[in-house]
Amino acid sequence: MDFTLTEEHIMIRDAARDFAKTELLPGVIERDEKQEFPKELIKKMGDLGFLGMMASPEYGGGGMDTVSYVLAMEELSKIDASASVMVSVNNSLVCWGLDTFGTEEQKKKYLAKLTTGEKLGAFCLSEPEAGSDATSQRTTAIDKGDHYVLNGTKNWITNGSSADFYLVIAQTDKEKKHKGINAFIVEKGWEGFEVGPKEQKLGIRGSDTHSLNFNDVKVPKENRIGEDGFGFKFAMKTLSGGRIGIAAQALGIASGAYELAKTYSKQRKAFGTEICNHQAIAFKLADMHTQIEAARHLVMKAAWDKDQGQNYDLSGAMAKLHASQTAMDVTIEAVQVHGGNGYVKEYHVERLMRDAKITQIYEGTSEIQKIVISRSILKD
Ligand code: CAA
Repeated sequence: MDFTLTEEHIMIRDAARDFAKTELLPGVIERDEKQEFPKELIKKMGDLGFLGMMASPEYGGGGMDTVSYVLAMEELSKIDASASVMVSVNNSLVCWGLDTFGTEEQKKKYLAKLTTGEKLGAFCLSEPEAGSDATSQRTTAIDKGDHYVLNGTKNWITNGSSADFYLVIAQTDKEKKHKGINAFIVEKGWEGFEVGPKEQKLGIRGSDTHSLNFNDVKVPKENRIGEDGFGFKFAMKTLSGGRIGIAAQALGIASGAYELAKTYSKQRKAFGTEICNHQAIAFKLADMHTQIEAARHLVMKAAWDKDQGQNYDLSGAMAKLHASQTAMDVTIEAVQVHGGNGYVKEYHVERLMRDAKITQIYEGTSEIQKIVISRSILKD
């Protein structure tokens, strides 16, 4: 078994690390406070190729493997999980979904702009009453021959106002339950499509999260993704890969907090010595490091499964379950290692602790991951 990264992997990881330190770190506290993310920064991420890493080169993508993607996700998330959730949604859900299941026309018209950062994407599945229970879609898309008419509300949509193109999941035929669900590409600015107010969040506050309203929005038939009734499978398949990206985000949040805690413990003195010399602190660091390494192995295994063309539903769900728990545990301990300083913004760990929580909620709560895992291990 070879755990060595290739030269290309190291180059991508280092480029993401460098970008995070030089471009993301400077304004991260302010973006968290003001709940904003400048368009220029999104553009820079696009220019450097972070928004279409795995997408096909013929549509402007980087054509990279999933291992490269998770390495970059970890580095960006160490510094700014608001930036990395934009990267994750655009790469794993929107670009991957279109690249894998879109038509040639859809790829030329939409994917080619999403991979370069010229446009940003959003993935719209959750509803007020269909978060975990994703089959209970209330948003409807009624077939009118050459177009569909979309009505309903989507909730907690990442990139809600900053996106340009939205992948929207909706019910076309209620009788057919999940087999009557479709996925559509909707453009911002279409008549009847309205972005609701921004959510006031605990964490990942730099990224914009909104509800979206669709009132008789006319969607051309050519904007449906896949065959009629493919929408639920589309969402599930897309989310399976998305979970690897969020697992990498959780890993990054944990390792960012751990690195800060380790550095702090070597500088801060108490009872006549640096606090890392007290077992109370050293043992915390040992636990944090071990948990992070275990999470890293699960994340890498899931990414590797995907790159090998193997099924990654189980490994992705396990990676997300464990890495998000690690992010929570490690960030809480990182605040504790920092003592009073951990509770103030300029030391960064309180933000990482707030950011960690969402990794146990979005793209399937921890309980949803346990459903996926238990069904998988019990089926044979
Ligand atoms: N790949 C392919 N098909 C899949 C699949 C997968 N990973 N998972 C399920 N399916 C298929 C099943 O095979 C089944 O199809 P058939 O009827 O043809 O056999 C169909 O989908 C229905 O499957 P289930 O009976 O298993 O469905 P369920 O109602 O029991 O739900 C669930 C399964 C795993 C709980 C699912 O509802 C789920 O994942 N829920 C969580 C949704 C979620 O992650 N939401 C996040 C929103 S997006 C987001 O957070 C983005 C963001 O902003 C960051």
